[in-house]
Amino acid sequence: MNNRLFFTRPDRLNSDKKRLISKIENEKESIGYYNLPKQNIDEIVQFSQNFDEDIENIVVLGIGGSSLGSKAIYEFLKPIEEPKRKLIFFESTDPLNIVSQLKRIDITKTHFLIISKSGGTVETISIFKYIFASESKKTRYTFITDRDSNLEKFAQDLGSKIFYLPENVGGRFSVLSVVGLLPLALCGVDIINLLKGADEVYESFFNDGKFKDVLLDKALFYAKNHTRYNINCIFAYSETLKYFTEWYVQLWGESLGKKQRHSSFNVGLTPIGLIGPKDQHSFLQLIMEGTRDKSVTFIKLQKFEHELYIPDISLKHLESLDILNGVAFHDLITMQCDSVIEALKNEKDVPLDEIIIPCVNAKSIGALMYYYELLTSLVGELIDVNTYDQPGVEAGKIILKEKLKTKSL
Ligand code: PA5
Repeated sequence: MNNRLFFTRPDRLNSDKKRLISKIENEKESIGYYNLPKQNIDEIVQFSQNFDEDIENIVVLGIGGSSLGSKAIYEFLKPIEEPKRKLIFFESTDPLNIVSQLKRIDITKTHFLIISKSGGTVETISIFKYIFASESKKTRYTFITDRDSNLEKFAQDLGSKIFYLPENVGGRFSVLSVVGLLPLALCGVDIINLLKGADEVYESFFNDGKFKDVLLDKALFYAKNHTRYNINCIFAYSETLKYFTEWYVQLWGESLGKKQRHSSFNVGLTPIGLIGPKDQHSFLQLIMEGTRDKSVTFIKLQKFEHELYIPDISLKHLESLDILNGVAFHDLITMQCDSVIEALKNEKDVPLDEIIIPCVNAKSIGALMYYYELLTSLVGELIDVNTYDQPGVEAGKIILKEKLKTKSL
């Protein structure tokens, strides 16, 4: 993976960078996600190797940090690696969605992973109750939760297998823990290489490799300009990255939209996930000519798996498009991305950078996700927020529970 910055690197002293690194090194002692690339995954590997071969579907009952990461990886790899089992996500209380998803699966060939760090999330538990009421066999379920949660107690009573989140790993930073690794391993994803990719970024960042400066410079730029360029778009030129951008939106939004720790000032950086070339025909106009409040990170794939060419044929009345003849689709999509980058560079006041990922494999996505987790931590530290909590989502939850108690609609 490579990252090139097309904006002027912030004029910061090395001492600023050293201070930031030392804060992050310090944080690494208590915040659990940093060390996940180096964790022991024997239990997960063994469990997935000994798993019932008759099971065809893995259903994740989870939401937010408990589902978005594994979904991003599964959907990224799906077009090139036939999954061993189907991974299906029940993330919504929308009854239309519940019924239509249930219709598509044979329950006798399905295993449910109930994933909830807190163990008490309304969406997850309500859907679980619905399924459990019709199918209460303990072998149907595996639980992933925090030690001592109420869900742990329920799972113990049921006699089901329980996996625990490592200490101090927040939901949206948990993709490389058992939360993401278990569903992915059960579907045949190469989780060893997934962690290897993340570990390469870890080593590079913490041991003076190529990502150290690039991440520091990018974080310093975002933080310094967080009131002017307060919208950060990812423009990914591959459909495979659609759910990665959803994961990014959660990671960035829920981590960085906060009251500052020392001033209680409301701050935040707004994430937008775009997919090229589709969004060239929609959101791009806003970037190109709209308010100058957006930065854009283009993500490009260096190698697409399939060699697909536009045939050398001329269509009557469409002769002007013969310029497409013989062009490979992978070159076309790259040229489309490069043309947009060039057009935006001409505007001069839209901060841009480009991330190039070598190909669609587990290692690439592991590296990309860990890179974004580090970037989030760095920016959070610089804009003075607690990156790892989410007090803002609590208010609505409290009101909902009150409404549920009185059943007042
Ligand atoms: O990042 C977070 O902490 C949240 O998005 C949670 O992942 C989400 O609310 C689900 O929580 P839980 O895993 O406790 O069910």
